[in-house]
Amino acid sequence: MNYDFNDIKFKESDIQIIRDARKKVVECNGEGCDFLGWRKPYADYLSSYEVEDIIKTSEIIRKKSTVLIVLGIGGSYLGSKAVISSVLGEHYNSYGDMKIYFGGNNMSAENYQFLNNIVSSEEVSIIVISKSGKTLETMIGFELLLEMMESKYAEKMYDRIFSVTDSEQGVLRKFSDRHNIKSFSVPEDIGGRYSIFTSVGLLPLAVMNIDIREFLSGAADMQKELDNSDFSYNPAMKYAAARYDLFSQGFATEILLTYSPANAYFAEWWKQLFGESEGKNSKGLLPSSMTLTTDLHSLGQYLQDGRKTFFETHLFIENFANCNNEKKLNGKGFKKELGLEHLEDVSFCELNKIAHDSVLKAHRYSGNVNLCIRSKENSAYEIGRLMYFFMESCAISAYALDVNPFNQNGVERYKSNMRELME
Ligand code: PA5
Repeated sequence: MNYDFNDIKFKESDIQIIRDARKKVVECNGEGCDFLGWRKPYADYLSSYEVEDIIKTSEIIRKKSTVLIVLGIGGSYLGSKAVISSVLGEHYNSYGDMKIYFGGNNMSAENYQFLNNIVSSEEVSIIVISKSGKTLETMIGFELLLEMMESKYAEKMYDRIFSVTDSEQGVLRKFSDRHNIKSFSVPEDIGGRYSIFTSVGLLPLAVMNIDIREFLSGAADMQKELDNSDFSYNPAMKYAAARYDLFSQGFATEILLTYSPANAYFAEWWKQLFGESEGKNSKGLLPSSMTLTTDLHSLGQYLQDGRKTFFETHLFIENFANCNNEKKLNGKGFKKELGLEHLEDVSFCELNKIAHDSVLKAHRYSGNVNLCIRSKENSAYEIGRLMYFFMESCAISAYALDVNPFNQNGVERYKSNMRELME
């Protein structure tokens, strides 16, 4: 990966705050530090029995189904959807022999009508994911899906239902045990938005034939790279310091700019990670996102000349897997007629790079602050590296603001209000 934080002049006082924040992460002595389980050594985990079990289970699911429905909300689905879309492409359901749909993350009747049609017309398996085992959206979705599955498969439906939840607590755990369904446990010391490298993320990825060992190797290698307390050599410390400096200067919003619709859900995952970890005690940057070049023709004007309450973080992936085989603009066809004759044998990855350089130059010209994080490709390995990088940066960043990165009391408040009103 390649990082460009050149727009920031790091101050020694900020660097010291970041060093102290990182210490809290590494030495596990900050608030909420019993939720640092996601920093376990992935180099060991990738050869564990659990990973083998996830792969075996995914093969069972693939054998009996044409469609997987994943029920879950927040950290229980955003990570897997982000990886699937980033690695397989925006139209991931158009390739391969397995389709995946997500539910249990909204109150949309249309969504359930759609899933009902899917259950009627396809061979379906379900993975229901909830750490607490009681989240309303997910449980409502599960109830509806169980009814649909029962009318199609009767008692045999239980062979097609899989769960990921707490090892002891919650109604989902009880349900799983009562009906003897194959179930994985979410480690107690890992919260939803930090759970992509557990069965929460890995089981759906494996069903979609994504190499989860490669994905975990990416995390393991990034872990090694970030195992360095020297600020000059630790990009997560630098990214956290840049964010801290800009927050202190009064910037309100960080916009993650991605360069392909395939990364739109990566941005959703990133928004949850930073928004839910930092937005406390009236602190934190509002994480926002745009997809380029699409949004340059809707919000580009604002970025260029609007009120400067934001800074930009460009997440640029240099080579999407299909770039080299795709149709290049190669001097024949209708180019002359369409005024594109200057484009000689150029791929979309190259065009995207030109767009990235042009946007960066234009926004720097306007005085915008730009941070850049560039990744080589959209492989499972590189996406694993990126995700671990953001998780570690986020924990450091939240501790620098003196907030607990691992709780979400605000979300809990809305959940209990909703239960009360429904009762
Ligand atoms: O990051 C978190 O912990 C939350 O956003 C959860 O992922 C989300 O609320 C879903 O919770 P659960 O997995 O308990 O259903």
